[in-house]
Amino acid sequence: MNYSTKISERMWNLPDKGELETQRELSFIDDIVQKAHIEKELLQNLDGIRTAFDGGAGSGRFSILLAKKGVYVTHFDISHSMIDKAKELAEKEGVLDKITFTTGALEDLSAYADRSFDLVMSFDAPISYTFPRQEEVIGDLVRIARRKIMISVSSRLGALPYLANPLQKHQFILDKNSPNGWIQWCMKNRDKMIDSFAFCRKKCDDTLHTGFLDDTEEAKRAYDRGETPWCITYHFMPDELERILRENGVKNVSLSGPGAFARTIPNEILIKIINDPEQKRQFLDFCYEYDRNPYVCGMGKDNLFAKGDIVD
Ligand SMILES: C[S@@+](CC[C@H](N)C(=O)[O-])C[C@H]1O[C@@H](n2cnc3c(N)ncnc32)[C@H](O)[C@@H]1O
Repeated sequence: MNYSTKISERMWNLPDKGELETQRELSFIDDIVQKAHIEKELLQNLDGIRTAFDGGAGSGRFSILLAKKGVYVTHFDISHSMIDKAKELAEKEGVLDKITFTTGALEDLSAYADRSFDLVMSFDAPISYTFPRQEEVIGDLVRIARRKIMISVSSRLGALPYLANPLQKHQFILDKNSPNGWIQWCMKNRDKMIDSFAFCRKKCDDTLHTGFLDDTEEAKRAYDRGETPWCITYHFMPDELERILRENGVKNVSLSGPGAFARTIPNEILIKIINDPEQKRQFLDFCYEYDRNPYVCGMGKDNLFAKGDIVD
């Protein structure tokens, strides 16, 4: 097993990970936008879909949604603690019988025959955590799909602004007084983050050329010291992701960038919109339209979304 897999396994098995994942849309507006975007894509593309594979399915944000629509889902994840959380939520939703839970790494999908599932999906970057095997993993996900593939991976152009804006996550905080640990940390360290910030052209250039935001060698050393570093994350360029899907025979590939519109709006305004149900509904609908424009897809917030058809 390579470092990426080992780090992912250790990190996603931390005891609080499952619970934190379920709090995302209660805490951060970019997560609300991203989830709404993917949900719309899924719900509009369910014709003829009876079975689905969700790779890196986490706490079940999308596997449970599909199970509630009557789809039989294989919920596949490297972390048993994420799977435990997903089982708990699936039971609450009454869809345990529609979901097969499997612990495994995306780097090994040999248990699945070609064209096993009508829909293959993998959202919010599990593929990016499989570096250096991300291209091979996409090929394998396409191999086990019969009709459609939908994935979202870490976005290079979308992530780069973080390097010039340590306060980026602050823009999307829904409630500054929330007890959520990450929000508390952001608020407490806000001034320190500004004071200690200095723009570094070299770091931006390096990320633009390599696809890594963090020091991957340091992540490996930290793992060997027994620590739990953040996953080694490979960030894709839009044309690169499109090329990989096309080379694997996927047709009608289209890309989008959930969060591209929302990231142009300041926090105070976003909070007003999200706290008004009618404005929220209209806003999320418009974000979906705007973020699907291929000219803005690279500037999605964190993730680059792609979908395509598997044709005989
Ligand atoms: C950010 S979460 C996304 C979960 C879910 N897809 C969603 O959108 O809510 C990433 C998930 O990928 C899983 N993961 C990370 N590396 C993986 C790998 N190599 N194989 C399978 N799952 C992996 C983690 O355990 C975690 O549940």
